[in-house]
This record gives sequence, structure tokens and C-alpha cells, in this order.
Amino acid sequence: MPDNTRRARDEMFWQTFADRYAVEPGPINLENGYFGRMSRTVVEEYQRNIEMINRSNSVYVRQRFEQVETQKIRAQLAALVGVPADTVALTRNASEGLQSLIRNYNRLQPGDQVLICDLEYDSVKNALRWLARNRGAEVIEIDHQHPASFDSLLATYRDAFERYPKLKLMALTHVTHRTGLVMPVQAIAAAAKEHGIDVILDGAHALGQIDFNLDELGISFAGFNLHKWIGAPLTLGFIYIAPERLADIDPDMGESHYPVTDIRARTPYGTPNIPALLTLPLVIEEHHAMGGSAAKGARLNYLRNLWVRAARELPGIEVMTPDDPRLYCGITSLRFTRHSDQQPMVERLLSDYNLFTVMRSGAASGPCIRITPGLTTTASHMKLLTRALTELG
Ligand SMILES: Cc1ncc(COP(=O)(O)O)c(C=O)c1O
Repeated sequence: MPDNTRRARDEMFWQTFADRYAVEPGPINLENGYFGRMSRTVVEEYQRNIEMINRSNSVYVRQRFEQVETQKIRAQLAALVGVPADTVALTRNASEGLQSLIRNYNRLQPGDQVLICDLEYDSVKNALRWLARNRGAEVIEIDHQHPASFDSLLATYRDAFERYPKLKLMALTHVTHRTGLVMPVQAIAAAAKEHGIDVILDGAHALGQIDFNLDELGISFAGFNLHKWIGAPLTLGFIYIAPERLADIDPDMGESHYPVTDIRARTPYGTPNIPALLTLPLVIEEHHAMGGSAAKGARLNYLRNLWVRAARELPGIEVMTPDDPRLYCGITSLRFTRHSDQQPMVERLLSDYNLFTVMRSGAASGPCIRITPGLTTTASHMKLLTRALTELG
């Protein structure tokens, strides 16, 4: 058994990591998908950086941060996704980055088509709708089959690519926030390329829990945040643009602080959260010390499988993501099939079992309840969830 898989089951091992996080007493949080906790040491470092920047002000920022620190940070972020440092630019979150890529994509002509699916994030969908409206393009919206399989996902895209020959651009969500389904990005991107369709990858939920390399995935445009599975302070993210595709994204609203050949011109200009950025080197060090995305992902998958295996046998529960290891991650949604409204079941999970979850709608397959374990979740939390599903289902 590979090391990460063996370690994923080791509650004692993970307890040592869990102890590094301060957790407010209260409900058991199975909604770790919104944002992740910082470790205690990261919180302390962040506080130190707030105080240091407050003391030294622009003297430090102009002399050192802008010249040296941001370059180091860009290199570390680029390494997380296996690309060169000068192909990434810092943003405040994934939405800002993805919206910049979409807003400034300059290859659409009137009559062209853009593609979104039911599983995309709403602000990404809306940005593509906005782009299409402004460029005289048409939005093609597709729904994925449910339950999905590797082949059905790919076939749905292939079918759309054949059916809509004017497609030029599509969004692709690596891990959908609605059900946790992991898209076969490499296969879809390769099929899109055959049809000359550009892909903007939404990596918000993938970074930090899935080990990937953007070059291997065949992705030229992508946006990420650092507060979900990397463990950074809120307000940080980045974009990637393949160097040979930089000219296809315009500088943001005529941005001119950086030369047109610099990716940093593609994001909104403004003073960033400098103390948070200065905290990143420690965050990334801790991420790697924990075993990186491969170890975090293995642990989250293990916790996911603990409840999913049991829930598959329950007649009143539908698990929304397949068990093909290529298509799932730690996030997985479920539905109480005997209840049309899922929100009261979210409330029952909380009131009767002290389990905090969230309802997610928008998938063509209907509303569901998202279960997202985190790094402080234990096997006994999953057992409690299984009991709750057995009794409530
Ligand atoms: C799939 C997906 N895309 C984009 C976003 C937006 O990320 P951010 O909060 O960093 O703007 C989220 C946030 O939950 C998400 O789940």
C-alpha cells in the first residue's frame, strides 16, 4: 500500500496535525469547503507580519517586499502547479483571477460560442455570460449526465464540441463545489484542443487536495485561491497563463504598471494584503511538510470513503459522485431521496447530530448536501455522520 494511503488511515498520525489547529468548540464542521483553517503557527506568523508591516510601512514594502519577496512568493506558487515563476500573477482569490482571465480574453468574435456546464461556479458562469454578451457571442449551456462516469463526462463534451462548431472558449471546473465531482481535465482539455477551443480552468477546489501539474493537464489559463486546501490566510490567489498565450489575454482595463509582456498586467492593480502574502512561505513549507496535496488528498479521500461506503447501502440516501478514483476527492454531496427539500435535512443534521453541513443547488441532478471533511476531521466524525444518515434516511 502506498505510504500516503497507509498514513491516511492512521488516526494518531492525523491527530498530531489536528492539534496544530485551534478549533472553536461547537458543531462538528463538515463544511470545510468554504475555506480552510490556518495552523496556529501560521496565525502567529500572520500576526507578526501584520505588526511588522504596520511598523515598517512603505519603507519595507517599497525597498524589499516589491523587489524581492513577491518574486519569491510567485516562484513558490508556480512550483505548486509545476510552471515557471513568470507565468503566474497574484490575485486576491480565485474569483478575481478567473474573472480577469475571462474579462480580458480577446479572441472572441461576434458569432462565436462559449461553453459552460451546470457544475460550474456561478460567478464563472456569469462572467462568461457577460463576456459573450459584450462580444456578440452565444453561450452554450450543457448539463452533465447523472450519475457521471469518466466516459459520460468526456462524451458530453465531445458531443458539444461536434454540435457547436463555433465554440472558441469554455470554462472547466477541476473540482465542482456543488457535488465534489473531479473532472477528467487532461482528457477534456485534449479534446477541446482538437477543436481549437480554449479552456479556462477553475482550480479553486483542486489546489492543495489534488496533485497535478498544469503542463501535464494541457491547461493554458487557470485561476486558484490559497485559502481552501493550502491553508493560507484569506485574500490570496493567483492566475496562470501559458507564456505563448499571454497575448490572448489583454492587460486588465488598460493596466500599465507592468509591461504588456508581463502577466502581472492581467490582474487588477492595487495594494494587496502584504502581511498575508508574507505569511505564504511558512504556509507552503507546512503544506509540503504535511506531505503536500498527495497526503492531504489521501486523508480526505479516506474520510470521504468511510461515510460513502456505508451510505451507498442506505436506501434513502443517494451519493452524488461516483466511486471511480479519478472522479472523486474529499468533497462529496449526498441527497435524502425521500425528501424533496434538502435544507430541512441540513438543519436536522445540525440539531440532532451536531453536524454542520451545507446545501448546494444548481446541479442539473438537483439540490444536495455537501459533506467536506477537513484536516481536523476524524474517523469518529464520519461514523457519527453514517449513523445520522442511517437514522434520518
Ligand atoms: C469551484 C469554485 N470556483 C471558484 C470559487 C471562488 O473562489 P474564491 O472564494 O477564492 O473567489 C469557489 C469558491 O468556493 C469554488 O468552489
